[in-house]
Amino acid sequence: MLNTTLPKLRCPSCTGALQVLNPRQTASGEVIEITSGELQCSSCSANYPILAGVALLVTDVHSYLVEHVKGISQVVADSDIPAAFRSDYLEAKEEIEIEHIEEDLEADRVISLYLANHYLNTSGEEWWKPQEGSQSTLISSLIREHWDHGPFATIGAWVDYELNPQKQIQTVVELGCGVGGLSQTLKGHVRSYLGFDSSFASIALGRHLALGVPYSKRLAIPNDLLAGPVTREVRLKIPRSFDGSIDLVVGDIENPPIIRGIFDLSVALNALDMMPDPRVLPEAQRDLLKPGGIAIQSCPYIWHEVVARDLRELLPKTVKDSASAAEWLYEQSGFEIQKKVDQLPWLFFKHVRQLEIYSVQLFLAHKTK
Ligand SMILES: C[S@@+](CC[C@H](N)C(=O)[O-])C[C@H]1O[C@@H](n2cnc3c(N)ncnc32)[C@H](O)[C@@H]1O
Ligand SMILES: [Zn+2]
Repeated sequence: MLNTTLPKLRCPSCTGALQVLNPRQTASGEVIEITSGELQCSSCSANYPILAGVALLVTDVHSYLVEHVKGISQVVADSDIPAAFRSDYLEAKEEIEIEHIEEDLEADRVISLYLANHYLNTSGEEWWKPQEGSQSTLISSLIREHWDHGPFATIGAWVDYELNPQKQIQTVVELGCGVGGLSQTLKGHVRSYLGFDSSFASIALGRHLALGVPYSKRLAIPNDLLAGPVTREVRLKIPRSFDGSIDLVVGDIENPPIIRGIFDLSVALNALDMMPDPRVLPEAQRDLLKPGGIAIQSCPYIWHEVVARDLRELLPKTVKDSASAAEWLYEQSGFEIQKKVDQLPWLFFKHVRQLEIYSVQLFLAHKTK
């Protein structure tokens, strides 16, 4: 965590201000990376650890450590886990399983897919090409046609050309930011970007890719799965220094560890359908914004059956599709929709024989209340 991020952080339990205790830091200067230590709430005295530079700002640190052990143990030494939680953490570490399912956001393979999705483009090497054997011409042509024109490109154009000629968007917060690739699109166009996500592995990798802080693992994506799950190393331009304008922390959308009411833009991409109660996301985006601030939301609306059932109960009878439902949720939270793309292709490269095509809705809304 950078020292310059501290004023923007708040206790996830009570929104009190935080102070840093026992910091270990890498360099001296105006902008300092705090590699370990604790954040303490000045109101409720709760403590939140900083592990391998990642501030862990969740209401239940003990449960988080146990549930996210797979991602944490890849980059944090056991001895750095706070003593009070270490034995349960080590017990959970013993039980880590390698699942075949692809939804574990602390799993190496899943994180590597987001690395590709957020940080690779089609202008350099053909990272989607098999290292052995033949290539799918369909996968190759879809990637060439659509890869560089997904949600980040549209958001970049909105922010850069349409909304921000007078640089009125200066401060950005992203909820469920994954590995934080949007920071690279917005870099140079806004003054600051702060992302948070509940996946430790995503934040640790994203901080390396976006800030250049050290990272102990190699950067690789899947190729032919016969060779192993993540076998193609990729070369990326890693920043050589940080200036305090970008940072990522661990946090939960249900209790954002972020100061309310100061941001010009709040973004949440492909997270709405992951919320047990989707109303929480527009409310969180609204609360983080200044009056008149802007929210951007995208989603492929892959609702869990139970979430969809509960959502249908809330919706007016006239609302019959997912995109209209999301717009209604944002309007209910005090937003006015101003721009939208209803069907935007978003490609997800899984390996050399699997490419997922999502069609997301992307919209931009102004906070009116
Ligand atoms: C489908 S991924 C999308 C990641 C990124 N926003 C993108 O569009 O590429 C959903 C992300 O939301 C995060 N997430 C899900 N529920 C969350 C919560 N309650 N709080 C914070 N992050 C959450 C996940 O860890 C994951 O990184
Ligand atoms: Zn507190």
